Amino acid sequence: MAVQMAPSILSADFARLADEAAAVAAVADWLHVDVMDSHFVPNLTIGLPVVESLLKHVSLPLDCHLMISEPDRWAPGYAEAGARAGLAINPATPVEPCEDLLPEVDMLLLMTVEPGFGGQSFLDLVLPKLRRARAMVQRHGASVWLQVDGGVSEETIERCADAGADVFVAGSAVYGADDPAAAVQALRRQAERATEQSGWPG
Ligand code: DX5
Ligand code: ZN
Repeated sequence: MAVQMAPSILSADFARLADEAAAVAAVADWLHVDVMDSHFVPNLTIGLPVVESLLKHVSLPLDCHLMISEPDRWAPGYAEAGARAGLAINPATPVEPCEDLLPEVDMLLLMTVEPGFGGQSFLDLVLPKLRRARAMVQRHGASVWLQVDGGVSEETIERCADAGADVFVAGSAVYGADDPAAAVQALRRQAERATEQSGWPG
């Protein structure tokens, strides 16, 4: 499994988004963009106009995490901006019902905090579910990315990789660091080492 690093700009300086994206462009794989509407989650961030502007200024693929009510209404606009499809589930949501949908998606996101805010503590209780999700993906031979988001840091990233995650979102652990690019590189090294040792095939 190839490790993908996706720094979350939720913890970046929103007045300098293009610069903040550029700070990690050479070392990250994707840029994670948290879209929150203050309905689905109790926080408000940015919407499609900002995403469209970012697309013009950012070389990395944008990983748009839609935490919004009425996704049927709003998601097509993001898809038209150029997209693959992902499915996100909250910490308490079982993963088994997602099995039949695996052929329809490119990525499954297992939230490792309740969505809404950066800087929360990682929820260890998601790890057994992550392990089951990885087994499920392997069983289907599907090329589905398995993403973790929330509380991913140098303390927790190895546990995530060991349980089978291959896409790692990190907000405060990257943009809260003095050198965001160095933080991404350090997290990637940890994730790659733990992935190699995990024994997951592929
Ligand atoms: C939370 C967001 C995350 C957030 C993670 O709802 O989905 O992407 O940026 O922040 P950290 O890495 O600080 O937990
Ligand atoms: Zn997110």
